[in-house]
Amino acid sequence: MSRPFDVIVYGATGFTGKLVAAELSTRADLKITLAGRSNEKLQALAKRLQPTAKCARMDVEAVSVTDTLALEKLCRKGRVVIACAGPFLQVGMPVVDACIAAGTHYVDITGEFPFVRRVIEKHHAAAEQAHLFIVPCGGFDCVASDIANHYTHRLASQRQGALPVRAVEAAVGVKGGASRGTMESIANLLRTVQRSDLHPHCLIPQKERKGRTMPPKELAAGTVAFHPHFNRYRGPFVMAPVNERVVRRSDYLAGRDVAYTEMSLGSWSQGQRARVAAMMILGARYDAGLALLRRLVFPAEGDGPSDEVRRNGGFSVKTLAYASPRGSLDKTKPIASAGVSYSRDAYTFTAVSAVETALAIIQGETSPAFVGGVLTASAAVGDALLARLKSR
Ligand SMILES: NC(=O)c1ccc[n+]([C@@H]2O[C@H](COP(=O)([O-])OP(=O)(O)OC[C@H]3O[C@@H](n4cnc5c(N)ncnc54)[C@H](OP(=O)(O)O)[C@@H]3O)[C@@H](O)[C@H]2O)c1
Repeated sequence: MSRPFDVIVYGATGFTGKLVAAELSTRADLKITLAGRSNEKLQALAKRLQPTAKCARMDVEAVSVTDTLALEKLCRKGRVVIACAGPFLQVGMPVVDACIAAGTHYVDITGEFPFVRRVIEKHHAAAEQAHLFIVPCGGFDCVASDIANHYTHRLASQRQGALPVRAVEAAVGVKGGASRGTMESIANLLRTVQRSDLHPHCLIPQKERKGRTMPPKELAAGTVAFHPHFNRYRGPFVMAPVNERVVRRSDYLAGRDVAYTEMSLGSWSQGQRARVAAMMILGARYDAGLALLRRLVFPAEGDGPSDEVRRNGGFSVKTLAYASPRGSLDKTKPIASAGVSYSRDAYTFTAVSAVETALAIIQGETSPAFVGGVLTASAAVGDALLARLKSR
């Protein structure tokens, strides 16, 4: 694919888009375009990044998501687009449509699983046929969980003679804050989600869901209970509904039938606090609840965690894999465990993981199992991404 630019970042002027743009600007030899809807904001961003930029070329281009032809023309200039404009359920689809029309690979940072479902339904077949890699959820949600799960199965597969893995439990711990864009996207998801999106396997084609292992119900309800193997109390993890569905798609794409579930870990009272926080966020479904959250909890528009909060942030994902014969779920003894951790916050990681996913695609490091399609990061570039993230 010969194109004037390597990577185009659309939505480059948002809180996270700026981090992605900054990460790209540090990569020698890359030709990048910073794109979004506001020329003024794009010019200001480029001016700020230029003095320290190491990339070979940095252009800016303002294009509206409502201008289909201009968006397709923009996407045709790059080998891969990283989409950062959200909420994705509101503004995301035109960028995917444009990439499909332009024959350009696509990575985004959405965490809105109903959006991912719509992208799969609309574009999976066409992307596979055109050998295009369309990879939603390339940020912290869901790469941290997805890559930890990928690594866990790699370790489990090295256990000679072990039964197949039937369940993976992941404990996610996060330190840091959330951006306004993240909070608005969660609120928008809660207010627009449809019943059919709530199926635990909603990212797997309907005809292939029958007979798949369903996750245990008590975790979905957010129970706080002692976990005998992690040796701590488990509580709900706020992004579990997103990560679980994406990781289950990864398992499906890898030909595995596994009950994947996520939780937070801590003391009993920390578990209860996580439960209250999850319930507060659910309040965004109602007008009054959303107004209150916007006033008291959400950061200002375009804002997010401060540099200091981001510097002191971090996360870890610890997993346990259980093996048992088909049709049964035996969790008495894990056969493998893995840990993934990062010493900077989830937003810094989002920029790094989205960039590494995009570069792995255009540098030919895609999994031999797929020629294209709407895939998860681990299905598209799992081994390469794991190696790239480890080297950071
Ligand atoms: N997966 C993850 O872990 C992860 C991490 C971070 C963020 N995210 C997601 O990424 C998205 C952005 O987050 P953020 O923190 O960067 O939020 P933000 O600061 O509010 O940025 C939103 C971005 O979307 C653009 N935008 C909004 N409406 C648009 C429209 N109609 N046309 C074109 N562009 C439009 C904005 O453009 P302007 O700058 O011109 O306003 C801005 O670039 C959210 O959906 C968030 O949930 C996910």
